[in-house]
This record gives sequence, C-alpha cells and structure tokens, in this order.
Amino acid sequence: MSAGGAVAESPGGRAGIRLEGVRKGFGDLQVLDGFDLAVDEAETVAVIGRSGSGKSVLLKHVAGLIRPDEGEVWVEGERVSHASDEAMEELRPRIGYVFQFAGLFDSMSVGENIRMALRKRGVTGAEVERWVERSLELVDLAGQAERSPAELSGGMRKRAGLARAVAGRPDYLLYDEPTTGLDPVTTSLIGQLIIRLKEEIGATSILVTHDLASAFRVADRVAMLYRGRLRAVGTPEEMKASDDPVVRAFVEGRVDLWPDDEE
Ligand SMILES: Nc1ncnc2c1ncn2[C@@H]1O[C@H](COP(=O)(O)OP(=O)(O)OP(=O)(O)O)[C@@H](O)[C@H]1O
Ligand SMILES: [Mg+2]
Repeated sequence: MSAGGAVAESPGGRAGIRLEGVRKGFGDLQVLDGFDLAVDEAETVAVIGRSGSGKSVLLKHVAGLIRPDEGEVWVEGERVSHASDEAMEELRPRIGYVFQFAGLFDSMSVGENIRMALRKRGVTGAEVERWVERSLELVDLAGQAERSPAELSGGMRKRAGLARAVAGRPDYLLYDEPTTGLDPVTTSLIGQLIIRLKEEIGATSILVTHDLASAFRVADRVAMLYRGRLRAVGTPEEMKASDDPVVRAFVEGRVDLWPDDEE
C-alpha cells in the first residue's frame, strides 16, 4: 500500500532502499566505513554480522534516526540522509520499525501504542480498532490491547512491538532482531509472520538477525556486515556455499576460523 503521491526514484533507477558509501563513527570507533547496500522494491534482505558490528546503527540510518558522517541513504525517492524534518515526518509513518528492545511507550497501553502509529499513518474512524485487533491477532496477542507493556513478558513485548510496526501496513519494514529471546515455537511463528507479511503487504524489508536459520528461510538475499563494510551479499544458497573465509566462519559458527579482530 502506498500513502499516495508520485514515486520518485533513487539513483540507480529503482524504488527501494539504497545505502551508498555510508560512513559513521562514534569518537574513535568507526562503525560503518563505506557501507553499500541496495534493497529492491518488495525484496527482503537479511543483514548478518557479529554483535557490535553496526547492524542496529545501519537500520537507524535507514529510518533517518541517525545521519551518516559521509555517504547517502535513500528510501524510495527520499534522500533520508539529508532530508528535512518535515520530509521525514511524511516518510516515517510508512516505515515500520521493530526495535531491538521493543521500544514501546510504557505510559500507554499496547493498543494506544498501536493506535498512535495508525493515526500517524492516516488511518481513522472505525478502521482503527479493526486494524489494532488484526495486528494483535497476527502476533498471537488477541485481546491484549488494554494491557500495559510493563506487565507483559519479554516475548510478549517483542510481539507487541512487531504488531505496532506492521499495523499500518507499511511500505518499508525494518526488523531489528525480531526473534531474539523468544522460545523456538514463537520464533518460528514470527518467521512465518514475516513471510506472510512479505506476501500480503510486499513491504521492502531489512531483517537484522542473529538467527541464521530464520535469515536463510525468510530472506530473498543475505548481506554480511564486516568491519563497517558489505563483505558479501547473495541468495541464501549462494551465502551457504560461499568460499569467503569470513562468511564461512560466521555461517558455520567457527570461532577458530574467525579472523583476528585486532589485525
Ligand atoms: N549512539 C551511539 N553512541 C556511541 N556509540 C554507539 C552509538 N550507537 C552505537 N554505538 C556503537 O556502535 C557499535 C555498533 O553498535 P550496534 O548497536 O549497531 O551493533 P549491532 O551490530 O546491532 O550489535 P548487536 O548484534 O549486539 O545488537 C557498538 O560498538 C556501539 O557501542
Ligand atoms: Mg543491534
């Protein structure tokens, strides 16, 4: 679903998400060091990489929550790396963001959290309650709208955050570790949900996850972030068969093969 308006195209000729030469440092730490990635319209790309490699920082760039020191980030026709606050106010409701730590407002009920996202998306009237219930059903939280996020279990909070992100049927979906800390059954349920959303909404998506099985099952392509750059990208099959030693070490969980980070 598009909120309307002409779809301008980013350089390269396609709607979707593009990061070009993105550099971002915090003090002495260079987190992103010339990172490039293009996600096609309606494509799901999983980003893998070690803890602390910059995956969450990368997603925040796409949502315009962090600006790069250098380089450009495009979402559809909008250069979010350089966009005005007004332009981001328009774009952000079309981006569903599943925050790594749920990111719900504890002062509001679960339903109120979702309603707020829907209002920003322009959903009004009787539609609102229907969409709230529908999104809660999707994550197995039907009837939980009036509860406070503070009284939910960790996994329930995570699912409530997911419900909020998808409630307004966004054009873009950014998932930051949607399954971390969930039991295997719920993890599998969330994986199925991501696939279903892909089919139903066709949102252009980036999925950050440590769960390689989900990444390989859910994503059209898998990208590996290493030392601030795109180390490799390919279909799940290509990545599983990669002869890049860094990709192999990561995919096989082989600490002994992992390059010395002090190099
Ligand atoms: N706002 C910030 N200020 C200073 N340093 C930051 C900031 N945000 C992130 N960092 C640093 O950037 C690095 C990358 O962080 P990031 O959260 O992106 O890692 P990650 O790949 O998501 O890790 P994990 O898999 O553990 O979630 C870390 O060293 C982190 O401490
Ligand atoms: Mg992270």
